[in-house]
Amino acid sequence: REFGKFGPIIGAIDEGTSNVKFLVFAANTSEVLTYHQISLKRFSPREGWVEQDALEILSAVLECIEVTVDNLKKLDINPEDVVGIGITNQRETTIVWNSANGEPLYNAIVWLDVRTSSIVDDLLKTKGAQSINAVTQTSGLPLSTYFSSVKLKWLLRNVTAVKDAVSNGECMVGTVDSWLIWNLTGGSRGGVHATDVTNASRTQLMSLKSLQWDKGLLRFFDIPVQILPKIKSSAEIYGYIATGSLLGTPIAGCLGDQQAALVGQNCMNFGQVKCTYGTGCFLLYNTGESIVHSQNGLLTTVAYKLGPNSPPIYALEGSVAIAGDTLQWLQDSLGIISDVSETETQASQVTDDDEGSICFVPAFNGLYSPHWRKDARGVMCGLSSRTRRQHVVRAALEAVCQQTRAVADAMAADCAPLRRLLADGGMAQNAALMQLQADLLAIPVIRPLMMESTALGAAIVAGRALQVWPVSTPSPPADTFLPGISNEEREIRKVRWEKALDRCLGWASE
Ligand code: G3P
Repeated sequence: REFGKFGPIIGAIDEGTSNVKFLVFAANTSEVLTYHQISLKRFSPREGWVEQDALEILSAVLECIEVTVDNLKKLDINPEDVVGIGITNQRETTIVWNSANGEPLYNAIVWLDVRTSSIVDDLLKTKGAQSINAVTQTSGLPLSTYFSSVKLKWLLRNVTAVKDAVSNGECMVGTVDSWLIWNLTGGSRGGVHATDVTNASRTQLMSLKSLQWDKGLLRFFDIPVQILPKIKSSAEIYGYIATGSLLGTPIAGCLGDQQAALVGQNCMNFGQVKCTYGTGCFLLYNTGESIVHSQNGLLTTVAYKLGPNSPPIYALEGSVAIAGDTLQWLQDSLGIISDVSETETQASQVTDDDEGSICFVPAFNGLYSPHWRKDARGVMCGLSSRTRRQHVVRAALEAVCQQTRAVADAMAADCAPLRRLLADGGMAQNAALMQLQADLLAIPVIRPLMMESTALGAAIVAGRALQVWPVSTPSPPADTFLPGISNEEREIRKVRWEKALDRCLGWASE
């Protein structure tokens, strides 16, 4: 059919921990034509618990789609040129709902939530698991509060409505992608209950080899298979939108947000690495068709599978739980900044070696890669009467960069040293952070001018499934940050960071 001047358009739902966005891309040029964004609330009914309202997530997605479609009309672009959409989402966050009426049976339990700490301990004691690596060979993941397996176990054990729905055969479970796909394709009137391999690989219930729910893992965590979605590739038609202005549009792609950013940054070859600085911060290292098991605290995950008959591509991942959230905490809880955007200027007003400088480990919910210590909690070390809020801000940025550096060291030990790092995500707008990262990694950090890599990745897989996206695209224009400190200075900062890190371990178990 005939298209307008931008040719076929692909929409991308980007459902992150902090915001929902809907963006539309011109498939021929990857240009963002317009978008809409809504912030999401988080609830913490108890210390360490992190929840979101599944219905709020859904209505934010629907609203973002409607506003974006209106924007298209205002730009004189025909919304019918939107030939398909892709979905990308915060991973691991777990939702259970009633399949008969579509009602969520509990709030979404967010990936950051640590209520399952005692479940992890129980598994270590009662299931004969010798170490946190008891199921790593099959799932690629250590036992941790982070993954959907233990969140689902908690829901099945503690929520009566969930137990009842399972007995009645009316319980459906999924990560946020499944919740959205089911609702967008018709919900209780025939919605598709599905997920993609990348999201499934974060539940800790899928075998990395077979790409199916694994009987041994389901037995280990006591999860009934019938409540789980069907696992599909990342690029195929899942179903058609059953409501609103994009009625009838195919959902043609789905990826977890970190995997989507890997695709969006065009890291499609072995050894290419990206880091997305969002609520948390996540490095993914493309290992091609090989499943590489880390000896250094990294996760093994599915990176993407570009169609039902394409081979799966894997990645090593280093996950840092708290990145942008540290700055949000400085704003909302400490009140020492009035807006996160100030942090670039504030951090640049002090240096790392001046008298008030401190070291800050924001291990609010424990530490993920490469330590996997749920008993860690945050510390600030080296405070003196010379310490000002600018030092705290700078230390918060350094914390993100040092944790990224530790993950990059683990990747070098498992595979090969990184030659450059591709950066994206909201926090990557901060040039002080990017410079600090290049300094600490001793490699160039490259930041594309169009930083919506996550949404772009979702659009690419959907566009590929529909055969409207070019197979190769030129590298986008980017800013490069080069390392600017000596090896000696880098080593001094690393030693100082590791001293602080030692002090935060074991705090939660005391
Ligand atoms: O694994 C959690 C991750 O997918 C969340 O991403 O962008 O919301 O920090 P983000």
